[in-house]
Amino acid sequence: MQFNPQEGPFTGMASVTASSEFPRILTYQDAAGVIWDTGPDEYMLGVNGRGETETFDLVADSPHMFVSAESGAGKSVVAASIATQSLVKGGSAVFLDVKRISHRWAKNLPGVTYAVEVDEIANVIVSVAAELRRRMRVIENYPGKISDAPVGPRIVLVAEEINSMMSELEEFERSLPPRGVYRPRRAFRDILNLGRAAKVHVVAFAQYPDTKLIPRPVIEAFGTRILIRHTRESWNSLAWSLGYAPPAPQARGRGLIIRAGKAIETQFLYLTEEECAHLVRTLRPEAERVGLIQEARRALAQRRELRALERGERG
Ligand SMILES: Nc1ncnc2c1ncn2[C@@H]1O[C@H](COP(=O)(O)OP(=O)(O)OP(=O)(O)O)[C@@H](O)[C@H]1O
Ligand SMILES: [Mg+2]
Repeated sequence: MQFNPQEGPFTGMASVTASSEFPRILTYQDAAGVIWDTGPDEYMLGVNGRGETETFDLVADSPHMFVSAESGAGKSVVAASIATQSLVKGGSAVFLDVKRISHRWAKNLPGVTYAVEVDEIANVIVSVAAELRRRMRVIENYPGKISDAPVGPRIVLVAEEINSMMSELEEFERSLPPRGVYRPRRAFRDILNLGRAAKVHVVAFAQYPDTKLIPRPVIEAFGTRILIRHTRESWNSLAWSLGYAPPAPQARGRGLIIRAGKAIETQFLYLTEEECAHLVRTLRPEAERVGLIQEARRALAQRRELRALERGERG
């Protein structure tokens, strides 16, 4: 009797990187050099089992990310490290926090928008979508490369407890007139669809996405997924294409980054809330100054390019 080892229920199953060299915790002190060495469009997420840096690359990776973890497993820690890096690199951070208290450290910091009530969240989502439409017009009229178009700083939306947020928005939309209103959930889908070129990114958080509230195509827009202490449900809704669920890493702050058909075990960066607030206060002003200079240079280049076009110097 013979058996075929290459074919069976476990074929193609996710191969999780061997966890050889993980630090027990990855602090700001351990990672500071690397965090600020990554480019302006890349945020450090943590380190893998070979001691290599894992990043969220806003240009090369999917523009949006879904972070799934059970309560207390480290969602807000990932959110804070991403938001901090965006703010320090001159971008903005928009917190949509139905739980109200997930990121008290960020309230009142420069570059931060913080919405907690459903009407505030709805306002912010449609305003970001309007800004995105403005940015699309800038890109449309810009003669150079899309990535060089002077759209403005990156915007990172941190959507905490996205299931509750979607359910509150659904309820809220029932009170809106049936026609003639730009609805927040429609605006949210527009942001997901058009975000990359306009430099608007969504990072969503939940134990796992509830498909009754977040339709499959919307979930698909989140091309990068993070799973911390995943359950069978969270694996099946976010990483099903990789096969059966491997056991979840149990160490604190340890999880998987799922992208491009691979699951990479990662020790996630841990910045305390005090560190996040301090970094933004001390390092952001310089990024803002550089950003203003870059913006002015781009505007000048754009005017030159347009004048050249008007004089018929280009084809
Ligand atoms: N990467 C990490 N390294 C070390 N410790 C961590 C890490 N992530 C989280 N922790 C620890 O776990 C605690 C809970 O993390 P966090 O608040 O991010 O969880 P959460 O998933 O947002 O929880 P909740 O569902 O209650 O909002 C942190 O206060 C910290 O002590
Ligand atoms: Mg939290």
